[in-house]
Amino acid sequence: MNILRFEDLVAQGKVAGQRVFIRADLNVPQDDAGNITEDTRVRASVPAIELALKAGAAVMVTSHLGRPTEGEFTMADSLAPVAKRLGELLGREVRLVSNWVDGVTVAQGDVVLLENCRLNKGEKKNSEELARKLAALCDIFVNDAFGTAHRAEGTTYGIAQYAKVACAGPLLSAEIDALNKALAAPKRPLVAIVAGSKVSSKLTILEALSKNVDGLIVGGGIANTFMLAAGLNVGKSLVEKDLVGAATAVIEAMKARGAEVPIPEDVVVAKTFAADAPATVKAATEVADDDMILDIGPKTAETLAAKLKAAGTIVWNGPVGVFEFAAFENGTRTIAKAIAESSAFSIAGGGDTLAAIAKYGIEKDVGYISTGGGAFLEVLEGKTLPAFEILQKRAAG
Ligand code: 3PG
Repeated sequence: MNILRFEDLVAQGKVAGQRVFIRADLNVPQDDAGNITEDTRVRASVPAIELALKAGAAVMVTSHLGRPTEGEFTMADSLAPVAKRLGELLGREVRLVSNWVDGVTVAQGDVVLLENCRLNKGEKKNSEELARKLAALCDIFVNDAFGTAHRAEGTTYGIAQYAKVACAGPLLSAEIDALNKALAAPKRPLVAIVAGSKVSSKLTILEALSKNVDGLIVGGGIANTFMLAAGLNVGKSLVEKDLVGAATAVIEAMKARGAEVPIPEDVVVAKTFAADAPATVKAATEVADDDMILDIGPKTAETLAAKLKAAGTIVWNGPVGVFEFAAFENGTRTIAKAIAESSAFSIAGGGDTLAAIAKYGIEKDVGYISTGGGAFLEVLEGKTLPAFEILQKRAAG
């Protein structure tokens, strides 16, 4: 992807003394008292900020937090907890600035955090008036917010249109490179795991991937709909009967390319959805009308693990069973371990997938863990994200 990269500007000595505006994605989960419960995104924002500071820039950082109403500040929308955490990580005080659209004072070598950018009127709809004001605040705009790259908002798109220089920060660059490596120029076989409760929420992903991948492993409720399409009984499992046709079309599209959607040969069932529900392993052909499929069976897990170990590239989105319950976690754990042991380049994204990666402690064995949720899914759908699109346009002059 032809985009300007902040690291190159730094290497070329073009950043010293410049006003640098970094759009990060610091949209982190918080508890009721406002404490950050998971700080991956704050940690991921540090390299860009340190790079700018070391290069001698005057640094402004902003992000959205949640989905506040523009112009209506409440304490719950404040980035104050993020400023504190960022300060700890950077080892320096990070001043939080409110009402910043008309001007920011920040010294060279210093960094400030600009309050929740979604409080600014016009941010969401990317108003030109706001975008021009944002652009006037800086000499260099750095988009480092992959998690928000699928939104065309003031700080993700509009500012990039009008800033003197618009480039990708190290996090955004790393995400672009990992996604390109996995999807645009993959080492084959390319195997994707798309799992989750509903086909409907991931149908466009399944359709897009069916044109590219060599193996498409489906899991969770999605697998149930594919099992139904393959003529198997799924009992009272979560299933979307109206999407059986769509699942069949995906199976056929894969077959036509000589690729496959492996259908589970065995499953783990229970009579109720509960952590302590007795779990029974059954052949996929033996599912009873009152059974609920809550995981793939051990034979299926081993077959899939072998495919993953033989893959050249793996894309992982979604656990294949109810891995939060010990009795139904074997499938997801086996898949996770196989990805960790595989020599394939692997990329993983999505909230549940990250939770599974953390649970099985395989962070270091996954090639790239994306910080994107919706943005990661939209890339899998084959979409060009607005933030990438505008940076490419700017790089083209
Ligand atoms: C996310 O958490 O997925 C991103 O920060 C984007 O948030 P949004 O869906 O509110 O735009």
